[in-house]
Amino acid sequence: MVVKSHLKRTVRILLVGDRGVGKTSLILSLVSEEFPENVPSKAEEITIPADVTPEQVPTNIVDFSSAEQSDTDLNDQIRRASVVCVVYGVDDDDSIERISSYWMPLIRQNYPDGQCPVVLVGNKIDLVEYSTIDGIYEIMEEFSEIETCIECSAKTLKNISEMFYYAQKAVLHPTSPIYSVEKAD
Ligand code: GTP
Repeated sequence: MVVKSHLKRTVRILLVGDRGVGKTSLILSLVSEEFPENVPSKAEEITIPADVTPEQVPTNIVDFSSAEQSDTDLNDQIRRASVVCVVYGVDDDDSIERISSYWMPLIRQNYPDGQCPVVLVGNKIDLVEYSTIDGIYEIMEEFSEIETCIECSAKTLKNISEMFYYAQKAVLHPTSPIYSVEKAD
């Protein structure tokens, strides 16, 4: 009997999403526990040692910047990721629409023979008084590789450590079906 293990030596979390949604700010807020007023276009790759992560697994966090990197870099980073966080702005409808029209198809394209877990991250909840989660559930129904979603704010630090914990968990304890009934015609 073959038992497929999801245990990996390192969890590699990649953040993608439209420009300006706050990818770099999220990473810097996690690392420094404060909101960066002046944010660079891309955060350096960071490694969190196993003993300070909730799941006790060394974790790399990788930013993507379309200003500094090419589409080839983007595809390469998607293929290297253990989990992709697709970040959108809760105040930015276009960035939500692009989850299903651009980001999810792009991620799928890079995993023709399987799937990469995805976490949807709605940033900037400090700017709005509503939740985007109802609309996000519809996207989750369309793409079974989306493990979970979370709303947060890099500015107020709300749900920032939770977001990275969810990403780790999506790799180590995935819930999406290994076999999709819909595709079994
Ligand atoms: P690109 O590198 O262009 O792809 O952008 P990015 O997704 O890395 O976004 P970045 O972190 O550069 O943030 C874009 C702008 O949004 C900056 O002015 C941030 O200060 C602001 N921002 C990021 N997160 C938040 C947040 O949670 N709340 C608010 N109010 N502003 C935020």
